[in-house]
Amino acid sequence: MKTAIGLVALTAAFSFGAPIPKIQQLPFGEADGKPVSLYLLKNAAGMEVTITNYGGTVTSIKVPDRNKTFGNVVLGFDNVAPYQATTSYFGALIGRYGNRIGKGQFQLDGKVYQIATNENGNTLHGGTTGFNKRIWDAKDVSTPKAPALELHYLSPDGEMGFPGNLDVTVRYTLNAKNGLEIEYNATTDKATVLNLTNHTYFNLAGAGSETVLKQRLTIRADHYTPIDNGLIPTGVVQSVEGTPFDFRRGNVIGSRINEDNDQLKLGKGYDHNFVLNEPGNLKEWAVKVEDPGSGRVLEVYTDQPGVQFYTGNFLDGSAQGVGGAFKYRSAICLETQHYPDSPNHPNFPSVVLRPGETYHSVTIYRFSTEE
Ligand code: BGC
Repeated sequence: MKTAIGLVALTAAFSFGAPIPKIQQLPFGEADGKPVSLYLLKNAAGMEVTITNYGGTVTSIKVPDRNKTFGNVVLGFDNVAPYQATTSYFGALIGRYGNRIGKGQFQLDGKVYQIATNENGNTLHGGTTGFNKRIWDAKDVSTPKAPALELHYLSPDGEMGFPGNLDVTVRYTLNAKNGLEIEYNATTDKATVLNLTNHTYFNLAGAGSETVLKQRLTIRADHYTPIDNGLIPTGVVQSVEGTPFDFRRGNVIGSRINEDNDQLKLGKGYDHNFVLNEPGNLKEWAVKVEDPGSGRVLEVYTDQPGVQFYTGNFLDGSAQGVGGAFKYRSAICLETQHYPDSPNHPNFPSVVLRPGETYHSVTIYRFSTEE
């Protein structure tokens, strides 16, 4: 891994034309007896993103506010140990299956599969040891246009109970428009189910700030998928019209979160999959967050059919990270993905991947400011 980075650095130093941006590689501690690294990506505008190959985790994103003061807007830690200990998936890549699979069971081609369960008899984010706890191979794949880091993980046949050797590559690119692009590719040698995402917690006011409840959210979704008391979708695709789940015209996140609404009670706040109106459209944002205090804006572009909007309802201040304690509802996750528990709902878009096919998906988190 070190050699690959060194080689790229050498190429940059001796290549003619536009210089290839260099990714800095820094030590980040040791996990499973192996050293892990932190990779620093920086663009010409000064935006900085750090990613560790432990869990493919985004540990910080530094972007300017309306006064051009840079600040870190994601919850994270400055070494690997807290990432090994946490069960909150801070910044991590999620696999093989983002969000929940009811009872950890599904049927595929007539066979019943039992996956490792890790939450009240259900499977959350891939089981007891998900992709967030794996060490990924890392390679600097920067181009003259943009710094980029490629991560690779081979998930063996039967890992956590999922069928097929799954070969996964995730590429993080920091583009010139202050967008962090995440591109996922995967292939399998047996039919399997797959739902990859990233679990970054955002607070545009700065990591460690009290709350996200005053920030404004727009989601281009006419429908969402209601949940049962295990936070598993019931299978119903429900209109958001007239409910606290209607974010189509933009709403302050906290304005309805404590309403007397069964779905909000089951989720302990927002913890629901929204059905995006234009899946596959990477030209228009699907979700937008605006922080009136800092003037920072986040737009999310994705080709995925859904986004899990989670208001950090299980954060309790016990995790001390960069910027302070990560308190109740002090950040939001916008996990672009297929719907939770899709393998058990034939009416949801399919998550089946077969040999010979390539899973491909792109999400962009783009930052800007408003006056
Ligand atoms: C889930 C939450 C869960 C969180 C883990 C989200 O994707 O929907 O219910 O607690 O991840 O931190």
